[in-house]
Amino acid sequence: MVNAKNLIEKAFEVQKYCYTPYSNFNVGAALLCADGTVFTGCNIENAAYTPTNCAERTAFFKAISEGHKDFVAIAIVGNKKGLKPGEGDYCAPCAVCRQVMAEFCDLKTFKVIIAKSTDDYLEYTLGELLPLAFTGKNLE
Ligand code: THU
Repeated sequence: MVNAKNLIEKAFEVQKYCYTPYSNFNVGAALLCADGTVFTGCNIENAAYTPTNCAERTAFFKAISEGHKDFVAIAIVGNKKGLKPGEGDYCAPCAVCRQVMAEFCDLKTFKVIIAKSTDDYLEYTLGELLPLAFTGKNLE
Protein backbone atom coordinates (compact mmCIF):
# COMPACT_ATOMS: atom_id res chain seq x y z
CA MET A 1 0.00 0.00 0.00
CA VAL A 2 1.41 3.40 -0.98
CA ASN A 3 1.40 6.09 1.70
CA ALA A 4 0.54 8.93 -0.68
CA LYS A 5 0.72 11.69 1.94
CA ASN A 6 4.21 10.66 3.01
CA LEU A 7 5.43 10.55 -0.59
CA ILE A 8 3.85 13.94 -1.39
CA GLU A 9 5.55 15.51 1.65
CA LYS A 10 8.91 14.28 0.37
CA ALA A 11 8.15 15.73 -3.09
CA PHE A 12 7.45 19.12 -1.48
CA GLU A 13 10.61 18.91 0.65
CA VAL A 14 12.93 18.45 -2.34
CA GLN A 15 11.55 21.55 -4.10
CA LYS A 16 14.02 23.62 -2.09
CA TYR A 17 16.83 22.18 -4.24
CA CYS A 18 15.26 23.03 -7.62
CA TYR A 19 17.61 24.92 -9.94
CA THR A 20 15.16 26.96 -12.00
CA PRO A 21 16.54 30.41 -12.85
CA TYR A 22 14.83 30.40 -16.28
CA SER A 23 11.29 29.16 -15.64
CA ASN A 24 10.99 29.83 -11.89
CA PHE A 25 8.82 26.71 -11.93
CA ASN A 26 9.80 24.28 -9.18
CA VAL A 27 8.99 20.60 -9.53
CA GLY A 28 9.61 17.99 -6.83
CA ALA A 29 9.25 14.24 -7.20
CA ALA A 30 9.48 11.33 -4.76
CA LEU A 31 9.88 7.84 -6.18
CA LEU A 32 8.97 4.83 -4.03
CA CYS A 33 10.87 1.57 -4.63
CA ALA A 34 9.48 -1.90 -3.86
CA ASP A 35 11.85 -2.24 -0.87
CA GLY A 36 10.51 1.00 0.66
CA THR A 37 13.43 3.22 -0.37
CA VAL A 38 12.40 6.67 -1.59
CA PHE A 39 14.47 8.67 -4.09
CA THR A 40 13.66 12.34 -4.49
CA GLY A 41 14.37 14.54 -7.49
CA CYS A 42 14.11 18.19 -8.50
CA ASN A 43 14.25 19.90 -11.89
CA ILE A 44 17.66 21.21 -12.92
CA GLU A 45 17.67 23.80 -15.68
CA ASN A 46 20.37 24.98 -18.06
CA ALA A 47 21.08 28.19 -20.00
CA ALA A 48 20.92 26.15 -23.22
CA TYR A 49 17.43 24.98 -22.15
CA THR A 50 17.43 21.47 -23.71
CA PRO A 51 19.88 19.96 -21.19
CA THR A 52 17.26 20.66 -18.49
CA ASN A 53 16.36 17.59 -16.47
CA CYS A 54 12.87 17.18 -15.06
CA ALA A 55 12.33 16.30 -11.40
CA GLU A 56 10.86 12.89 -12.24
CA ARG A 57 13.84 11.85 -14.35
CA THR A 58 16.25 13.10 -11.71
CA ALA A 59 14.55 10.78 -9.20
CA PHE A 60 14.56 7.83 -11.61
CA PHE A 61 18.19 8.28 -12.64
CA LYS A 62 19.30 8.61 -9.03
CA ALA A 63 17.50 5.36 -8.17
CA ILE A 64 18.69 3.39 -11.19
CA SER A 65 22.27 4.57 -10.75
CA GLU A 66 22.17 3.19 -7.23
CA GLY A 67 20.92 -0.24 -8.25
CA HIS A 68 17.16 0.13 -7.80
CA LYS A 69 14.87 -1.12 -10.56
CA ASP A 70 11.57 -2.08 -8.89
CA PHE A 71 9.28 0.90 -8.59
CA VAL A 72 5.85 1.24 -6.97
CA ALA A 73 4.80 4.89 -7.24
CA ILE A 74 5.92 8.46 -7.81
CA ALA A 75 4.50 11.64 -6.27
CA ILE A 76 4.90 14.88 -8.22
CA VAL A 77 4.34 18.49 -7.16
CA GLY A 78 5.05 21.61 -9.20
CA ASN A 79 4.41 25.32 -8.90
CA LYS A 80 5.83 28.75 -9.55
CA LYS A 81 8.51 29.71 -7.03
CA GLY A 82 7.16 31.16 -3.81
CA LEU A 83 3.78 29.41 -3.74
CA LYS A 84 2.90 27.31 -0.72
CA PRO A 85 1.48 23.75 -0.89
CA GLY A 86 -2.14 23.98 -2.01
CA GLU A 87 -1.69 27.28 -3.84
CA GLY A 88 -0.51 25.78 -7.13
CA ASP A 89 -2.14 23.55 -9.73
CA TYR A 90 -1.64 19.83 -10.40
CA CYS A 91 1.63 19.22 -12.25
CA ALA A 92 1.35 16.21 -14.56
CA PRO A 93 4.56 14.56 -15.79
CA CYS A 94 5.74 15.60 -19.25
CA ALA A 95 5.68 13.06 -22.09
CA VAL A 96 9.44 12.43 -21.95
CA CYS A 97 9.18 11.54 -18.26
CA ARG A 98 6.21 9.24 -18.95
CA GLN A 99 8.33 7.45 -21.56
CA VAL A 100 11.21 7.03 -19.08
CA MET A 101 8.77 5.66 -16.51
CA ALA A 102 7.49 3.16 -19.11
CA GLU A 103 11.02 1.84 -19.56
CA PHE A 104 11.17 0.70 -15.93
CA CYS A 105 7.61 0.48 -14.58
CA ASP A 106 4.60 -1.73 -15.05
CA LEU A 107 1.92 0.21 -16.95
CA LYS A 108 -0.90 -1.48 -15.02
CA THR A 109 0.41 -1.20 -11.48
CA PHE A 110 2.83 1.75 -11.24
CA LYS A 111 1.03 4.70 -9.63
CA VAL A 112 1.54 8.34 -10.56
CA ILE A 113 0.36 10.71 -7.81
CA ILE A 114 -0.10 14.32 -8.88
CA ALA A 115 -0.57 16.61 -5.89
CA LYS A 116 -1.58 20.15 -5.03
CA SER A 117 -1.15 19.36 -1.33
CA THR A 118 -1.03 16.29 0.92
CA ASP A 119 -4.84 16.42 1.06
CA ASP A 120 -5.53 17.20 -2.58
CA TYR A 121 -4.10 14.78 -5.11
CA LEU A 122 -4.97 12.68 -8.15
CA GLU A 123 -3.79 9.11 -8.64
CA TYR A 124 -3.37 7.39 -12.02
CA THR A 125 -1.73 4.24 -13.28
CA LEU A 126 1.10 4.87 -15.72
CA GLY A 127 -0.96 3.09 -18.39
CA GLU A 128 -3.73 5.65 -17.98
CA LEU A 129 -1.23 8.46 -18.62
CA LEU A 130 0.59 6.67 -21.46
CA PRO A 131 -1.84 4.51 -23.44
CA LEU A 132 -0.40 2.42 -26.29
CA ALA A 133 3.09 2.89 -24.90
CA PHE A 134 6.09 2.12 -27.09
CA THR A 135 8.36 -0.14 -25.01
CA GLY A 136 11.15 -2.68 -25.35
CA LYS A 137 8.48 -5.30 -26.17
CA ASN A 138 8.00 -3.59 -29.55
CA LEU A 139 11.64 -4.31 -30.38
CA GLU A 140 11.57 -8.05 -29.63
N1 THU B 1 9.30 20.06 -15.46
C1 THU B 1 9.53 18.98 -14.65
O1 THU B 1 10.47 18.98 -13.84
N2 THU B 1 8.69 17.92 -14.75
C2 THU B 1 7.63 17.85 -15.62
O2 THU B 1 7.06 16.79 -15.79
C3 THU B 1 7.20 19.06 -16.30
C4 THU B 1 8.24 20.12 -16.44
C5 THU B 1 10.21 21.21 -15.35
C6 THU B 1 11.13 21.38 -16.53
C7 THU B 1 11.45 22.87 -16.43
O3 THU B 1 12.54 23.03 -15.54
C8 THU B 1 10.21 23.50 -15.81
O4 THU B 1 9.48 22.42 -15.25
C9 THU B 1 9.34 24.25 -16.80
O5 THU B 1 9.03 23.46 -17.89
